[in-house]
Amino acid sequence: MTSPMRNIAVIGAGQMGTGIAQTCAAQGMTVMLTDVDLPRAEAGKAAIGKALAKLMGRGKIEADEAEKLLARITPVADYAPFAEADLIIEAATEREEIKNAIFEKAGQVLATGAIMASNTSSIPITRMANHSPDPARFIGLHFFNPVPVMGLIEVIPGLATAKETTDAVTAFARGLGKEVVLSQDEPGFVVNRILLPMINEAVFVLGQSTAGIEDIDKGCRLGLNHPMGPLQLADFVGLDTCLDIINVLYTTTRDSKYRPAPLLVKYVEAGWLGRKTGRGFYDYSGEVPVPTR
Ligand code: 3HC
Repeated sequence: MTSPMRNIAVIGAGQMGTGIAQTCAAQGMTVMLTDVDLPRAEAGKAAIGKALAKLMGRGKIEADEAEKLLARITPVADYAPFAEADLIIEAATEREEIKNAIFEKAGQVLATGAIMASNTSSIPITRMANHSPDPARFIGLHFFNPVPVMGLIEVIPGLATAKETTDAVTAFARGLGKEVVLSQDEPGFVVNRILLPMINEAVFVLGQSTAGIEDIDKGCRLGLNHPMGPLQLADFVGLDTCLDIINVLYTTTRDSKYRPAPLLVKYVEAGWLGRKTGRGFYDYSGEVPVPTR
């Protein structure tokens, strides 16, 4: 199914934003990519170039195709060019105040009929929609990391989201070659509501010395056939992001089953945030990751 939305703006040039930009550009869409400043947006595009070079090295993509894909992505310094966008996707830090400020600012240029979406992992869509110019054209569009590889997008309409908006982003998501799961606007939606308690529990298991890091991961890889163990996956997602999500589950439901594992809090306080900082539950400074406990 081809989506009529071809002009996409992505806010946030981190892990998720760059993955979204790459995936859209791979489908022939034009992408404007922005972050807090132009150098960060440019660094995001450079990271996509690096990922494509890796794919070229493995014979997964031809050089001219990679070049064309990259040419469809334009780093931009501010939101003014987003007036041309059919769809604005916010993929910034998982903090509600940061996202709300983005919706208010980008909302000033949102074209009539264009849609604004958030890639939030867990923050209520209905609440954030109030910071956009038109809650009927605001929706959750939750991608999974690594975006070019993962086959799923969650679509989360808020209370005020129009059916036309849900239909349009569902067609857009399918146009990216992804399957769609429709979720109601409940904390953590579907997948993170299940995933984050698992990761959090794995950290409790570690904190109580029931098993070590490698055995916890091995247990889930071999015993459950997961591609990565929960602690490896936490490092992959980012321990700060994991803590942010479990905190949203905890504070919005007030259910103690979602209380963050104290050891997870400690790792974040230490600045050991996973792969992105070179150290989380594993140390990534050498050839192979080494457990930190
Ligand atoms: N663009 C396109 N393709 C890419 C790519 C990229 N940037 N990066 C990797 N690939 C492709 C590779 O070419 C390879 O393709 P092939 O299978 O056809 O050869 C495939 O992806 C796998 O890559 P690798 O061989 O490098 O790596 P692995 O086989 O070790 O797999 C993994 C890596 C896909 C990350 C796998 O370990 C995995 O699935 N892990 C679990 C990931 C997961 O659970 N993600 C969800 C996290 S939760 C989330 O995102 C939600 C958020 O809100 C927290």
